[in-house]
Amino acid sequence: MDKFLIQGGNSLIGKVEISGAKNSALPCLAATILTPETVTLHNVPYVKDLITQRRLLEDLGATVLTPELHTHKVKAENIEVFEAPYELVKTMRASVLALGPLLGRFGQAKVSLPGGCAIGTRPIDLHLKAFEQLGAKVSLEAGNVVARTPKGRLIGAETFFEKVSVTGTENVMMAAVLAKGKTTIHNAAREPEIGDLAELLNKMGAKVQGAGTETIIIDGVEGLHGAEHSIIPDRIETGTFIVAAAITGGELEISKCQPKHLVAVIKKLREAQVEITEIDENTLLVKCGDAPLKAKDVTTKPHPAFPTDMQAQYMALMTQASGKSTVVETIFENRFMHVAELIRMGAEIHIGGNTAVVHGKTRLMGAPVQASDLRASASLVLAALCASGETIVDRVYHIDRGYENIVRKLKKVGADIERVTENLAMSAE
Ligand code: EPZ
Repeated sequence: MDKFLIQGGNSLIGKVEISGAKNSALPCLAATILTPETVTLHNVPYVKDLITQRRLLEDLGATVLTPELHTHKVKAENIEVFEAPYELVKTMRASVLALGPLLGRFGQAKVSLPGGCAIGTRPIDLHLKAFEQLGAKVSLEAGNVVARTPKGRLIGAETFFEKVSVTGTENVMMAAVLAKGKTTIHNAAREPEIGDLAELLNKMGAKVQGAGTETIIIDGVEGLHGAEHSIIPDRIETGTFIVAAAITGGELEISKCQPKHLVAVIKKLREAQVEITEIDENTLLVKCGDAPLKAKDVTTKPHPAFPTDMQAQYMALMTQASGKSTVVETIFENRFMHVAELIRMGAEIHIGGNTAVVHGKTRLMGAPVQASDLRASASLVLAALCASGETIVDRVYHIDRGYENIVRKLKKVGADIERVTENLAMSAE
């Protein structure tokens, strides 16, 4: 397994380009299943989850060409398989996004129930309930979700999410665009990735209105055609690099981003005395202000509030802020896996239920630490960048799922970081 070796203490200075959003590219790639014609997606990030998603599409029978690294041309003309197998779903739960389009276009889908992951049980009960509201028959067979439309086609309906679900909203959108009649999705997720998916679906001939609000209205159509679309920038990668500049006392120009997608993050970091200037609508200049970082409380909530995917990174920063800050995680039941590792580096953090209290400013010391999930690993890298001494971050395959070329991007702005690929032969001894 790969590790990162990080010598902390360097201030990050220079320019960083943000890649396409993993959590938009995943549903947009799934949406290509909805038409036999070619859909071209640009600005697809080169990260592990998208390699997995591409494999899923090819396993279903689609042709995927990548004329250049960040462009995927998908032609789902000959879909012969309607199943996302366990070995794919267990590595990436977002494979469940195949359910909606398969059901919408072919009236059948079989997807292995995704297991939980480090941050929680991650059920998909709300997805399945919504499909049933659209007329699907859903059953669990040997660990697989099996969904069929007895009437041959889904019927538009009023659907309601008891809890806001990002991929749940996306799955139902993709099922409903080809349903007979009108579908309303109440209590829909409002994340920017929902708007990006809606834009792609409408380019393909769908009729989706209200994306980005809590009520989405979809008028079903007979069929969808090909389209071309560019994926929005990754707002969580953007937030991660803002924290990287602040935690190392550096200065970064962050380009190809969309500041309007992370208003709550920028607001909170400015409150903590991080200097963030919008140079233009796609570029931020970030530097740690002259005033010391201030401890500020945060509570994660669905968009447009502070995102759960920035919680771990923010907590790393709060270890360097003067004072006590309270971090409340309301989305996932176990998203504090980074805390024990940060404590091993010298942080002072106390957990009580879904609340972590951080006492800063503490001097962090390099140490061997272990990544547990995508955003926790980002948090450990950030802490290592400002710690004194060497940190070895193990199991960095977690970070490779959602951050494109993170070592290269960090080195380019002055970080002392190396990827070490453990020789399997050696580890076998
Ligand atoms: C998406 O996951 C993101 N993944 C996650 O990003 C992100 O953390 C999450 O939304 C919240 O913003 C992708 O978009 C691929 P949810 P998702 O359904 O859709 C519960 C990352 O780091 N729930 O919005 O799976 C669920 O357990 C990843 O990039 C049900 O109970 O999250 C959670 O507590 C991690 N039943 C809450 O709702 C359901 O049927 C929100 O989950 C569905 C969800």
